[in-house]
Amino acid sequence: MNDRMFDQIKEAADYIVTHLNVKPKIGMVLGTGLSNIASEIEDEVIIRYAAIPWFSHSTVASHKGEMVFGRLGEKDVVILAGRFHYYEGYTMQQVTFPVRVLKELGVETILISNAAGSVNAAYEAGDIVFLKDHINLMPENPLRGPNDERLGLRFPDMSDAYDKNLIEKAVEIANKNNIRCHQGVYVALQGPNLETPSEYNFINVIGGDLVGMSTVPEVLVARHCGMRVFGVSVVSNKCFPLSAIKETTHESVIAVANETEPKLAKIFKEIIQFID
Ligand code: HPA
Repeated sequence: MNDRMFDQIKEAADYIVTHLNVKPKIGMVLGTGLSNIASEIEDEVIIRYAAIPWFSHSTVASHKGEMVFGRLGEKDVVILAGRFHYYEGYTMQQVTFPVRVLKELGVETILISNAAGSVNAAYEAGDIVFLKDHINLMPENPLRGPNDERLGLRFPDMSDAYDKNLIEKAVEIANKNNIRCHQGVYVALQGPNLETPSEYNFINVIGGDLVGMSTVPEVLVARHCGMRVFGVSVVSNKCFPLSAIKETTHESVIAVANETEPKLAKIFKEIIQFID
């Protein structure tokens, strides 16, 4: 964390609020192929990342780079449509900067989605998995460096990173709508390569259910600054048992995510009605 970050967060948030007359308490980070819900926002105000001071711009074609403010059902929300990945070459501070800005804007609860490979034999491609925990195997941590106490604690607790009440609510919503779901542990690797069979096996052995290249840095920062977190993976490729592994392309990940998105959108739209 550099000592100018506090001021940079404020500058970014100050720029954004000049374009708004809402103050959403709910934020969303939408993963690969999962941003369609942004098109359902009413009275939308779109702010391109490129226009925001200190924001980076996404380099992955499938990721939009904009903040979308507006109403979803009865609630004001802000969506980060497009995220920054460590594998793109951004620092962890750049990857997580938008989350800090959401906090500064008044967001208290953050819903985070991603497409992930599964290493739990019970999961199928297209399943929805609510994150109950994670294992961080990324090589860098966004909280490394001098800690700015104005942003959060030096040693944030992670015993309860994913809000249990929101998971319980999400399971209820999924069941009511006949949406297949699980609760699982997300393992974060830096990528950008997908895993070898031995690596998928390792992830299963250490207690993972899912593997991906995002989310965990954002969760660490969200918890550091005191936000409530709800995380969801869409299984884009089944990688366990090892005999289930097929060649995975970015296009196939996007295709499964796109196909599954309506189920996730349904859950997000319903769950936010229970968030104050
Ligand atoms: N591994 C890592 N990241 C991923 C995968 C995977 O199999 N699928 C989607 N994102």
